[in-house]
Amino acid sequence: MPNNRAHWGSRLAFILAAAGSAIGLGNIWKFPYITGVNGGGAFVILYLFCIFAVGVPILISEMYIGQKAQCNNVQAFRKLASGNKWGPLAGWLGLGSAFMILSFYSVVGGWILDFEFRAITHLLTGDFTDFEDGAALNSLLGNPWRQLAWHAVFMSLVTWIVYRGVKEGLEKWNKILMPTLMGLLVLLFIRVMFLEGFSEAFSFLFSPDFSKLTGDGALEAVGHSFFTLSLGMGAIMVYGSYLDENENLVKTSLAVAFLDTLIALLAGLVIFSIVFTYDLDASAGPGLIFATLPTLFNKMTGGSLLSIAFFFMITFAAITSAVSILEVVIAYWSEHKKVSREKASLIIGFIMFAVGVLHVFSTNLWSDIFNILGKTNFFDLFDLLTSSYMLPIGGVMIALFYGWVLGPQSVDNTIKDDNPVLKLGLLWACRLIAPLLVVIILYSKVKELFA
Ligand code: TRP
Repeated sequence: MPNNRAHWGSRLAFILAAAGSAIGLGNIWKFPYITGVNGGGAFVILYLFCIFAVGVPILISEMYIGQKAQCNNVQAFRKLASGNKWGPLAGWLGLGSAFMILSFYSVVGGWILDFEFRAITHLLTGDFTDFEDGAALNSLLGNPWRQLAWHAVFMSLVTWIVYRGVKEGLEKWNKILMPTLMGLLVLLFIRVMFLEGFSEAFSFLFSPDFSKLTGDGALEAVGHSFFTLSLGMGAIMVYGSYLDENENLVKTSLAVAFLDTLIALLAGLVIFSIVFTYDLDASAGPGLIFATLPTLFNKMTGGSLLSIAFFFMITFAAITSAVSILEVVIAYWSEHKKVSREKASLIIGFIMFAVGVLHVFSTNLWSDIFNILGKTNFFDLFDLLTSSYMLPIGGVMIALFYGWVLGPQSVDNTIKDDNPVLKLGLLWACRLIAPLLVVIILYSKVKELFA
């Protein structure tokens, strides 16, 4: 594989890029709403457990495989263990997940841009009515052309960053967008600390009531720990492949997992403080940030500026994540098929846009003719197939590859200091614990499907 491939300029650049991948719609949109639906504290504790027991070991495995192989996610497995048939399969599965996830991720990214645009317009026109009672969301969902336009804008931004390459694209933009995102979140956090609902939000997230936890909630916690850390697809692997050989992976992956968790919790505190100040329902579901929150921004002093800051923050989170998904496919195509990065980005970016078009139409114009696996649109179907099946299966294949095929020798290489307990922990988390937990989720998901 080419040794002249691009590398991150510094450890910080890699941490920001990997955190940029991890921190996304999963943290600011999905985590708060699934926590709300699942009753708060107890779900949060379980989620934290999954992040550290399942997420971090797989995060380390992905980084290690990428760093060692110094190539794209499909060839990495071949290179490290030629003859192993399962490894490359995980790579292929990852490419499939990338297409499926990015196509709907970009549509939601487009919604965020639309809300951002509206928030800015409010400031200029003084007319805030479309943020009342879910009006903006309803009008957007009923207007496929508007969704398509924003989806095109979002996908173009993402394609442009990947087109520019590792240093000039990924590294540069993560270095700009990630600190800005964190700054905006801190500002929002300071503002909500002065709201009445802050202490209620705090106890909602941090005082567990285990009677509220259901089996479905537990499954959701495991599944979400994959999604939120960008695991199972090879995204972190590809980012790891732009890393120098001697980087300490344990520290780096802990930093990434910590940042990802911190941002999810802070976003949860911001959103629930606002929701509780106005006595609204925490379990509003997916519409939480698109319907509930905009209505409330309208009621708050300074709400208009807050809504602008809020939607900018999610825009940045979504872009840096989407970039990492596209990069998986581009790394493969441009290295394996010897196509230029530029050409690969334009072609794949366009194909992903086209798949996204199906999502847009399946939720409105074509909704009557669509029904697969009990799902009435492509959106839910792709979300279900990827988050519940493909990512966890991909993640387990990666963990097993690391734990069994590469084995103790690799663990020794990963954890450089002499810490036998940590080494054994990592080895068996990958060999047994992570796979077992995932098999349990998959079993109950499949059972549910055929029930
Ligand atoms: N982790 C991102 C989020 O929380 C989404 C994401 C980016 C992702 N890259 C990924 C999910 C790779 C799975 C695999 O929004």
